[in-house]
Amino acid sequence: MTSASALRPTFTGSERDAAAEGPAWYRTAAIYQIYPRSFADANGDGIGDLPGITSRLDALQQLGIDAIWLSPFMTSPQKDAGYDVADYCDVDPLFGTLGDFDEMLARAHERGIRVIVDLVPNHSSDQHPWFQAALAAAPGSPERARYMFRDGRGAHGELPPNNWQSVFGGHAWTRVTEADGTPGQWYLHLFDASQPDFDWANEDVREEFRRILRFWLDRGVDGFRVDVAHGLVKHDELPDYMPAEDADSMGGQETVPYWAQEGVHEIYRDWRRLLEEYDGDRALCAEAWLPTAAETALWVRPDEMHQAFNFPYLMADWDATQLRAVIDESLRAFGGVGAPTTWVLSNHDVIRHASRLALGADAPQGHGIGPLSAGKPDPVVGLRRARAATTLMLALPGSAYLYQGEELGLPEVIELPDDARQDPTWFRTQGERYGRDGCRVPIPWEADAPAFGFSETGSSWLPQPAEWAGLARDRQQDDSDSTLSLYRALLRLRRELALGASEDFAWIDGFPASTLAFRSGAVTVVANAGSAPVPLPEGARVLVASAPLEEDGSGSFALPRDTAVWLVRD
Ligand code: GLC
Ligand code: CA
Repeated sequence: MTSASALRPTFTGSERDAAAEGPAWYRTAAIYQIYPRSFADANGDGIGDLPGITSRLDALQQLGIDAIWLSPFMTSPQKDAGYDVADYCDVDPLFGTLGDFDEMLARAHERGIRVIVDLVPNHSSDQHPWFQAALAAAPGSPERARYMFRDGRGAHGELPPNNWQSVFGGHAWTRVTEADGTPGQWYLHLFDASQPDFDWANEDVREEFRRILRFWLDRGVDGFRVDVAHGLVKHDELPDYMPAEDADSMGGQETVPYWAQEGVHEIYRDWRRLLEEYDGDRALCAEAWLPTAAETALWVRPDEMHQAFNFPYLMADWDATQLRAVIDESLRAFGGVGAPTTWVLSNHDVIRHASRLALGADAPQGHGIGPLSAGKPDPVVGLRRARAATTLMLALPGSAYLYQGEELGLPEVIELPDDARQDPTWFRTQGERYGRDGCRVPIPWEADAPAFGFSETGSSWLPQPAEWAGLARDRQQDDSDSTLSLYRALLRLRRELALGASEDFAWIDGFPASTLAFRSGAVTVVANAGSAPVPLPEGARVLVASAPLEEDGSGSFALPRDTAVWLVRD
């Protein structure tokens, strides 16, 4: 095996000089999320894998991203697509071996691409040896104390310890059968029953995760995306949850007794100190679903994590007033704690933004869309808005995450057959919620190859729509109007003009209320979220536009609806 130091480039080669002297890389990076099972399948079993990722790194380098984040590839029974980990320090055979991981990491680093891995500390798989030991041990034992086992309510303990609901639907508690065959205690799982929550008050758990962090840091990873980073600590008394109103379960109101408890922050302070023992600006990114940027910013105070996904931004509609408010609040809140804002529009848990941004007010954003959903998005409007929204996002100061396939303009797959669906949400709600499979369909590489180049055998764990041939990377590669060409131009210019590091963001007045206009570094950005064309300032040169502009014949240009543009003055 290659030694860990050989795997860690110093990133001070010529292309990295600016980064070495400027802000730490994660403050400005464009980070590309790879969902391994849907990215590229090297061995033909229909599930993407680590050798598949290695084989496609050139395409990512051409795209112009700075880093990749990999969703979990660790040993797992795959009840929640790998977010149910049975061994945190090994690779699931489905995805390859630790050797394949080292190889992928080395090849990425050679190309100047940093690598972030997913860490799932809120819960393990029920197949984790610790949970198996807990099941075999008696109530009150040290084995049980690593998880959240409690006696039930009711005369015979037949009722769950409290009323908490799983994020995926149904009760958050499952009752076990004790070794003597009698109905026993209950254990907490905020997600699927196969994902028991750890008890973070337990020192074994804390020590084990320090070991896991070191395992991957020693291998050379550049950081961690921390799953459910707002959930690790629960209210001491495990009180019933009484929502003020019927809140979205991912929403995390201040009063929810299992989200955003003060005690989580000490865990991240500990991890921050641990990361700082390592060279090279290793970073932690929080997946914390909180309603506001102000609350999210608590995760990125100077001694905690380095990044936190800006989900309030992701949840905003394609609406100038909403977007302006959330951008202002974000810059204020994250800036207030000295952290970069981490913009994001899509990931493996939400409806792809090429569909989401065209959903009507009657169609909620959460829980997926499927054949029977009301208010299906118009794909043409959706893609147009998605291109505009990304054009806007990539000019904003801070870091930005992209989700695999959005650079191809992929929509949410709505017409998945019921029997293909795999998200536990679908099963736990008996099909009432479609869940997240529609954004997880394997991505198209080559229009004319089996499985569009995803897998040589043509096998694909979720079926790909036939019309994705037209969105395949090879079809878009040399087409200057393609979404891929747009992303490449945006990422190149963003890097050349150091927009992620710009410190002089300012709104520009004088445009209609349905328009967003701002200056960021050397560029002026105008985005039209209204329906009427917006005249553009005279004398500005177009650097990049998300759609063709309108010319009035006398040399003046207007910005059509659902379009964004970057302008410069020569
Ligand atoms: C996070 C992940 C999601 C997973 C859940 C439980 O929200 O992004 O995919 O299902 O945590 O681990
Ligand atoms: Ca495979």
